[in-house]
Amino acid sequence: MEKKQNGFASGLGFILAAAGSAVGLGNLWGFPYKTHANGGAAFVLVYVACVLFIGIVTMLCEIYIGRRAKANPVTAFKFASSKIGWFGVLAVIIPGFISCYYAVLGGYTVRFTVNSFGTNAGSFVSFAEKEWLVILFTAVFIGTALLVVMGGVKDGIEKSSKVLMPALFIILVGTVIFSLSLGEGVSEGLAFYMKPDFSKLSGSGILAAMGQAFYSLSLGMGAMVAYGSYTGKEVNLLKSTAMICLCDTGVALLAGFAIFPAVYHYTATTGLEAGSFQGVGLMFQTLPLVFEDLGFIGKVIQFFFFFMVSIAAVTSVISLFEVVSQFFIQKFRIRRKKVVMAVAVVAVLISVPIGISLGQVLGGKENAIVIFGQNLLDLFDIITNTVLMPVCAFFSCITVGWIIGPKKFSREMEQDGQKLGLFSSLFSVMVKFVTPLLILAIEIFGVYDLVFPVVDSARSFSANGLGITLSAYGLLALGTVIYFVFLKNSDTGTNEDETRAEK
Ligand code: PFF
Repeated sequence: MEKKQNGFASGLGFILAAAGSAVGLGNLWGFPYKTHANGGAAFVLVYVACVLFIGIVTMLCEIYIGRRAKANPVTAFKFASSKIGWFGVLAVIIPGFISCYYAVLGGYTVRFTVNSFGTNAGSFVSFAEKEWLVILFTAVFIGTALLVVMGGVKDGIEKSSKVLMPALFIILVGTVIFSLSLGEGVSEGLAFYMKPDFSKLSGSGILAAMGQAFYSLSLGMGAMVAYGSYTGKEVNLLKSTAMICLCDTGVALLAGFAIFPAVYHYTATTGLEAGSFQGVGLMFQTLPLVFEDLGFIGKVIQFFFFFMVSIAAVTSVISLFEVVSQFFIQKFRIRRKKVVMAVAVVAVLISVPIGISLGQVLGGKENAIVIFGQNLLDLFDIITNTVLMPVCAFFSCITVGWIIGPKKFSREMEQDGQKLGLFSSLFSVMVKFVTPLLILAIEIFGVYDLVFPVVDSARSFSANGLGITLSAYGLLALGTVIYFVFLKNSDTGTNEDETRAEK
């Protein structure tokens, strides 16, 4: 009997799926609002530098770690050394956490799409407060991702990415063209986005750019390890990594061209200050105002825009589900469909309190569910993105730089027919020193900002920030204990085990 191949059918399929993971709310929402909040073009330049100097190296490490082991992140790190398999446990825990809050936001994007011909302007808070609607849309969003992941890597993830990613790109380009054609205010929007003014960029802005680059590229969360494990030797890892980073950064940059001219046009024609658009409200609060001010055509654009954001969000959550599912499928040799169903049910159960907590806090309810002064969505976001993600990305670099070693890396790449040439020595320096040190800086300054936040231009201690940090590191410690007690000396499975489990 012909052996069923468990992995991507083509290099292009892999690139599109990985780009699907990378391109998400981080690009279409996070990047533009952070650019706006941090002064515009100078932030963009720092962001691009971060992708070039930290992102590419870390992504290459993660894909390579997955591919050489052809297994889930726990086995993949164990394959490098059994002492570091716990790095992989972290790489499975983080996506588990992210998927739960990401799904709530995904639910918002679906709701905004469906509601585009009604009115989305001003509905962010009122929607957030309608608990049943939030639960319904979160469940719809998770259900969509569930169907895709259940289909498997080749028939679910790869096939859907091949349709959804080009669709996303076409809609985005269409929105950019529309936005640039608005006339009044467009050139001011472009100037803000393209003329760097470094005096507007602060240290925390640089930190935000670094963190944003990681998050946007789906690094430090096992996603690229998992997807990398499904690639064959014929896939050129260096070229694929470059393509994925290019797609991700390209989409983020285009999102800016879609959003800033439109927002500045609105400002110019209505007299409202652009400054009032700063912050997280840019996508869910400001853009509906901007689109709906343009009449029926604006509503059509709004529909396509939020549809595009929903696509981006769903292809990202798919990768998060895949990381968690891959581990359980392989470790316990359970059929994919059963595991994915279980993952989705747990995700719905955890997303519900997250969605409710956000709605309560936005609605200013007393007795809202908050922990360490944060609604659950922000709490999960800070634990994963600010504290744990850089740790996990750091581990990926250290694994390749110091445990496997750049020499072995180059040798293995060449055995797979990938000549690295000059890149080899550059990579060696980057992966051993430059990238891990920069990641360490992100971690240290990120945690410092959390524990000693800036309040009215002076730093003060935050017990809540400390509580969040300790909880995150507690989670890391828990993962480490789980590894040494339950996983180190047991078989944690490989991609082959899924093929066997399905027979
Ligand atoms: N990169 C995604 C975004 O920019 O929205 C978020 C994400 C997806 C992070 C998948 C991590 C991940 F594994």
